[in-house]
Amino acid sequence: MHGGDVWQFELFAPVYDLLVPGADAGLTAAIETATVPVERLLDVGGGTGRGARAVDVPERIVIDPAAAMLREAREHGLAAVRGDGSRLPVADGAVQAVLITDALHHVGDQLGLVREAYRVLAPGGVFVVQEFDPTTALGRLLAAGERLVGFDSRFHPPETVREVLAAVGFEAAVRETGVEYLVVGIRPDRVDDRPRW
Ligand SMILES: C[S@@+](CC[C@H](N)C(=O)[O-])C[C@H]1O[C@@H](n2cnc3c(N)ncnc32)[C@H](O)[C@@H]1O
Repeated sequence: MHGGDVWQFELFAPVYDLLVPGADAGLTAAIETATVPVERLLDVGGGTGRGARAVDVPERIVIDPAAAMLREAREHGLAAVRGDGSRLPVADGAVQAVLITDALHHVGDQLGLVREAYRVLAPGGVFVVQEFDPTTALGRLLAAGERLVGFDSRFHPPETVREVLAAVGFEAAVRETGVEYLVVGIRPDRVDDRPRW
């Protein structure tokens, strides 16, 4: 059903949480930049729910194409739905936050995912992207390591991600820089509310 970097996560799922450290506390502050109260959050490419578990939001839903990762998310008490980030099974304007941590580089249609985040967000909602910067020494090493184990990863520096979010229609800003960076986009309240790009 899904191609790309999915089969690897079907295999790694049982040990993923043992190998990967917990998500960064900065995610909560980034979600709080939404200009509306955040009642419902989608953790896209959320895997075992590492990102969703790090934030304090009443309703948290993990979406991921890897069934084995979703089983782990459910073990953590999270709602989990199978799906591709570039074709979200979610109604327009249904959530106030979309989070993607350490997963955008695995997605084949990255622009499609950004457009989908825009579509499913209510005006004032926030899109939070946490990624690795391939222009840093450690980021380069990580990108090379992912290729070695057979991933099709495509990493981008924070300014590129910010520009794509802005082109789609978000009010976008780079919030944290470093090996792991954060880019945040607010969906503005416009009359013409289709993605621009
Ligand atoms: C490194 S894991 C990150 C999981 C979680 N977000 C975290 O921070 O621990 C990458 C995730 O991206 C998912 N993924 C791969 N292709 C995807 C796609 N097209 N749409 C959404 N998620 C995808 C994988 O199944 C995997 O769970």
